[in-house]
Amino acid sequence: MKLDAVQQAAQEQFARQSRNYGRSHILADVSDVVAALEKIALPPRAQVLDVATGAGHTGLHLASLGHAVTCADLAAPMLDRVREAALERGLTVETRQHAAEEFPYAAATFDLVTSRIAPHHFSSPESFIRETARVLRPGGWFLLIDGSVPDDQEEAEEWLHQVEKYRDPSHHRLLTPRAWTQLCTAHGLEVQSAALRPMKQPDLEWYFDTAGTTPENRGKVRDLIANAPASARAEFRLAEEEGKVTWWWPRLTLIARRA
Ligand SMILES: C[S@@+](CC[C@H](N)C(=O)[O-])C[C@H]1O[C@@H](n2cnc3c(N)ncnc32)[C@H](O)[C@@H]1O
Repeated sequence: MKLDAVQQAAQEQFARQSRNYGRSHILADVSDVVAALEKIALPPRAQVLDVATGAGHTGLHLASLGHAVTCADLAAPMLDRVREAALERGLTVETRQHAAEEFPYAAATFDLVTSRIAPHHFSSPESFIRETARVLRPGGWFLLIDGSVPDDQEEAEEWLHQVEKYRDPSHHRLLTPRAWTQLCTAHGLEVQSAALRPMKQPDLEWYFDTAGTTPENRGKVRDLIANAPASARAEFRLAEEEGKVTWWWPRLTLIARRA
């Protein structure tokens, strides 16, 4: 597997941090996935691909519903975490190590492709969408859930980009709902809905710890927070609660369907 610099950074970062993404992580709460699945009509045992599965919260939830799930990730230790969690929960999933930008599957293989809180790491969102459209069956579904920013909020987006880059240098870029919609449309995926919902980042120190942020970069993020522009303060509701720095991330849920 030949990786570009962005993919390599993500692979190294998540290989190091794989044990921080288990049950105690806020991503273990899959209520966003549950809500999205209410709008997606799947056969009883759908073929599902969960791209950049991390510790597998999304893929394992789908497996618990009886679907045949392939959990894919760049970082082998993450796939170890998925297999451990599957065993613990009495679930069966297939695990595959590959990048989100190129899939080792035949065209029209899956009924559903998911990717949650990961596409902001992808070096080429366009290749990811092209591959997703290719491996979906006609009428198949795509569910993307990721951190995002509202359209036309360049200053706030740039601020969050800086924060994320210092916290976790493998962060690549947040895309707006409009940018994702354009990519989907360009590759034959009809967007059914694209909605932003704020999700709480409950404690900056915990957030640093999950990514293993260096002390130097923690300082830089604190400076960015102290000097945040009004647009970012308002957009992300920056606050301090009981001594903890909190903010609200816009999380995008986009549902699309292959024509
Ligand atoms: C925050 S975790 C994903 C969370 C998970 N999807 C969930 O629902 O809990 C991000 C994952 O993206 C993976 N990743 C980052 N860039 C990738 C890429 N280009 N291709 C495949 N996986 C990637 C990382 O290895 C990491 O495991």
